[in-house]
Amino acid sequence: MRAFVSRLYGLSGKPVVLKDQLSCFTLSIISRMVLGKKYFSVCGDDQLGSNSILSLHEFQEILDELFLLNGVLNIGDWIPWLDFLDLQGYVKRMKDLRKKLDRFYDYVLDEHKRKKKELAKDFVPRDMVELLLQISDDPDIDVKLTYDGVRGFTQDLIAGGTDTSATTVEWAISELIKQPQLIKQATEELDRVLGRERWVKEEDIPQLPYIDAIMKETMRKHPVAVLLAPHLAMEDCNVAGYDIRKGTRVFINIWSMGRDSFLWEQPEEFRFERFLGKKIGVKGQNFELLPFGSGRRMCPGYTLGLKMIQTSLANLLHGFNWELPDNIKVEDLNMDEVYGLATPRKFPLVAVMEPRLPLHLY
Ligand code: HEM
Repeated sequence: MRAFVSRLYGLSGKPVVLKDQLSCFTLSIISRMVLGKKYFSVCGDDQLGSNSILSLHEFQEILDELFLLNGVLNIGDWIPWLDFLDLQGYVKRMKDLRKKLDRFYDYVLDEHKRKKKELAKDFVPRDMVELLLQISDDPDIDVKLTYDGVRGFTQDLIAGGTDTSATTVEWAISELIKQPQLIKQATEELDRVLGRERWVKEEDIPQLPYIDAIMKETMRKHPVAVLLAPHLAMEDCNVAGYDIRKGTRVFINIWSMGRDSFLWEQPEEFRFERFLGKKIGVKGQNFELLPFGSGRRMCPGYTLGLKMIQTSLANLLHGFNWELPDNIKVEDLNMDEVYGLATPRKFPLVAVMEPRLPLHLY
């Protein structure tokens, strides 16, 4: 967080593509937790460092392609006799991507396996890959975890954990810039609770109901997984009077639930007060707001996601004043979205930040 804030500090007064900075921040956190370190060069620097095998730019491109190909509609899946023609070229792109990902994961897993072998009996897992490798070596486990399984899990965590949180914060700041009075309300709360003598820490979050409400309102209006992940009915069932046959593929459209005037007053408006003093949470208990899904298949990373979003959002608001570049008027800020596996802004937000707090207080 400190590296993120000081990078932004260095960009004060200049137009900044916020999403690039946020992705770099979330990717650094996730790869440290999952892979044990960053396997790509430092953010904002495309030169490869001695320890990195990819530049951040290359890594981000791989993730973007992975997200895009996960979301596309491949004709061959629906009309199987056309499959071999690969009319849209998606299958070729998937194979090319697989080669790049294999190279990356082979390097990462080989390095981890070497370390595990060197340490032998003294080995204690310190990141997710090490933990998964330990499980895959366990002869007594009921369901054997294969090498491919370790790779799959690793990829799920990296792909699921980075873009989602970065996209949510980018939407939150975009909505707030459109209504400067909301930024004023949020910063008044931050000044009141923390004062101007320090930045925000993770443990401050429970004292900041406005930040919590801004995050919920962002997730209502701009859920990243608009149809959640496809679910499959394991048996015949009845939901709210509708019969659902075993084997049915079910899509839950949380985007339209968030914009339903039956559930929300003036749903098109971004009004975070609607959550103040209300007991509506995002953890799958309140069915009108399900940004992480619900039940056994809900997002396993939601606590981490919430922490990354709330702490970065609070620091961005407490530490900086926000403006649009080149005298662009707030009413001219385009809010179109692009549908994919995550739902980002069509045009990335470019903003100018001016410091509100000195950096040395971090
Ligand atoms: C704003 C942050 C995030 C949002 C909105 C989000 C949302 C979701 C949603 C909607 C699903 C599908 C749930 C369903 O099937 O109904 C999901 C699945 C998943 N998420 Fe997240 N997520 C976020 C952050 C994270 C983080 C930080 C991680 C990991 C470090 C993560 C890892 C995963 C994984 C591995 C799955 C697949 C679970 C499965 O298929 O069983 N997510 N996420």
